[in-house]
Amino acid sequence: MNLEDKPIIPSPMMKDNHSAPAAQESVLEIWGRASLKGHVKISGAKNSALAIMAGSLLCPEDCRLRNVPSLVDIGMMGEILSALGVKLERIDDTLEIDARHLNGSTAPYELVSKLRASFFALGPLLARLGEVRIPLPGGCAIGARPVDLHVRGLQAMGAEVHIEHGVVHAFIKGTGSKRLKGTKIYLDYPSVGATETIMMAATLAEGETIIENAAREPEITDLAGFCRAMGAQIRGDGTNTIIVNGVPSLHAVDYPVIPDRIEAGTFLVAGAITQSELLISPVVSDHLIPVIAKLNEMGCQVIAEDANSLRIIPGHLRATDIETLPYPGFPTDMQAPFVALLTLAEGNSAIAETVFENRFGHVPELNRMGADIRVKNNIALVRGVPILSGAPVMATDLRASAALVLAGLAADGKTTIRGLHHLDRGYENLEDKLRLLGAKLHRVPADAETEEDNTSVVENQLAQVAQ
Ligand code: EPZ
Repeated sequence: MNLEDKPIIPSPMMKDNHSAPAAQESVLEIWGRASLKGHVKISGAKNSALAIMAGSLLCPEDCRLRNVPSLVDIGMMGEILSALGVKLERIDDTLEIDARHLNGSTAPYELVSKLRASFFALGPLLARLGEVRIPLPGGCAIGARPVDLHVRGLQAMGAEVHIEHGVVHAFIKGTGSKRLKGTKIYLDYPSVGATETIMMAATLAEGETIIENAAREPEITDLAGFCRAMGAQIRGDGTNTIIVNGVPSLHAVDYPVIPDRIEAGTFLVAGAITQSELLISPVVSDHLIPVIAKLNEMGCQVIAEDANSLRIIPGHLRATDIETLPYPGFPTDMQAPFVALLTLAEGNSAIAETVFENRFGHVPELNRMGADIRVKNNIALVRGVPILSGAPVMATDLRASAALVLAGLAADGKTTIRGLHHLDRGYENLEDKLRLLGAKLHRVPADAETEEDNTSVVENQLAQVAQ
């Protein structure tokens, strides 16, 4: 199918961005102590889809991505690609991408500053065009988020990189072949983004690139699978040494994104924190080994029903210790949801956040709900309490917002969460999925908060959903 024959319809996901401002004007009200029941469908992986969308810039032919979640971040990445000349069309969970005609413009700062993942376009654009300008993404709520490893990797491959007025200007030196040169690169830290940037750039480089101390996250393997499906020669993804043999060009691709392991983990915690038995699918259980191990350690049972589903059977929650690490260690994106869970576990827990320097924004908000957590340097010390109490709270970042939803589901009374734009970045239809499991929650305009527990309204909503 040739995209050029198809009328380009502004993808519905582009509208998602317009839902973001609304999210800032609304609040999420959750009536706690609900027990959940049933099966929840897991969406495609946000962090895989974002990297693969950047990878589509390598492709001068039709590129189809399936199982792409409808999220604000995905919509923003679509807008950035459109600004670079890419044509996109979303049909349900499939994204048709046409990156034939790139216009060589600079990605707009106001978008890049909001979506760090847009920086992943640097490597593919440099490899494809020989020159690129992209704004430095800057920091965010969870840390400074430097990009030195991305830049140093491209410099090692023969790129000249200058930072001028907050914009990274990268170009391939010399007048000869406008191709990067394969080389051996050691990453000081197994950075996910830097591994992805270098791996994508290396697919079109001359010769062999070896990335040592590479990140091993499943999203890296998914991106490598996507690039291989376009004709790239990549091996070793999923280990700490990735080898890429460059090719002159890549071809059309039709590729499904893996299920989101962090969304899956979040729903496992939802089962544990509400003492509910839940079935989740599709899921790749190998992507969740540390999360499953910790839930079992805490007294739950997580059982693989079949190759692509997991069932959580809750149990009396016991304290445990956690240290976040690069994959296959415990994922930093599951730290906030587990802190919420540990507030209700019997005993004392210590959670060390070793990946990002400022990722405990959820702690003061959980303490407002009656949790007993103290943070010393990069360690949160949690004393278990018998119950949380609902309260008005503020989300500070994506995974903190998930932690507050989880705490609200378990708390006694009503929890009101502000800062919903964080939640909408990374969880597709979270409220609908929770309501289908029996949770009592709804999103209302900030000035229309209900004073008392208006479960009748929520029950009506439930009745509508059940029809
Ligand atoms: C990816 O971010 C994910 N985002 C993050 O998910 C995830 O938490 C993180 O990997 C770790 O797993 C996307 O994939 C879009 P890193 P990334 O580079 O690539 C330091 C979520 O909630 N570092 O592995 O930015 C950095 O400061 C998000 O879905 C450098 O020092 O993560 C951090 O301390 C949050 N120099 C550590 O490495 C660099 O050049 C890990 O960062 C790059 C990174």
